[in-house]
Amino acid sequence: MKPFAPACERNRDPILEKLRPTLAQWVRPRVLEIGSGTGQHGVYFAAALPHLTWIMSDRRENHAGIEAWREEAALDNVEGPHVLDVADFEAAFRPAVEAVYSANTAHIMSWKQVTQMVSLASRSLLSGGVFLLYGPFKRGGEHTSEGNERFDGALRESAPHMGIRDLEALDALAAKAQLHCEEVHQMPANNLLVRWRSAGSA
Ligand SMILES: C[S@@+](CC[C@H](N)C(=O)[O-])C[C@H]1O[C@@H](n2cnc3c(N)ncnc32)[C@H](O)[C@@H]1O
Repeated sequence: MKPFAPACERNRDPILEKLRPTLAQWVRPRVLEIGSGTGQHGVYFAAALPHLTWIMSDRRENHAGIEAWREEAALDNVEGPHVLDVADFEAAFRPAVEAVYSANTAHIMSWKQVTQMVSLASRSLLSGGVFLLYGPFKRGGEHTSEGNERFDGALRESAPHMGIRDLEALDALAAKAQLHCEEVHQMPANNLLVRWRSAGSA
């Protein structure tokens, strides 16, 4: 049976609305997704944006579900799932791509893994490529809603390495990896979609 994340159904159209103009700047972009989860986002975005190739990846335990979504969608422009655990930094699958996309991963990974994800994104991106990160974030060290604060508490209680990240801390990591913040989109349900661009011209 295919895994199903209700949040993906709710957030996919608002995210697609932001991805579409960003990814329209390339004729045939390749997009690496880190932490594809169920695979719902990948097949939805690939179907809506047929000019791109969407490369799904995650830790091996999620591959059966991703494969189920991929098989059903039967799209020519979806690759993977590839094994990609950002913690396994040296072995990590790292194709050269125009865009790296990841949703709802930074608060699940440890901070060290977030560091590794940003570095991996930077090393995968072609010059002028973009790193797109979606999820809940703190701003200036503060939660942006009571709901996010409760969610953060629940995450930390279930596993101390998890937690909602501070956008400024992430941006500092990105800057060290030669990624500069281009846009922060406010998204529904107190989420953000952040776009960093790698140094160089598109
Ligand atoms: C909350 S789920 C989000 C899934 C999907 N992107 C979405 O928005 O529904 C977090 C995802 O991060 C992945 N993840 C956690 N740690 C990871 C790591 N070290 N390397 C790669 N992916 C990781 C999990 O396997 C899972 O798919």
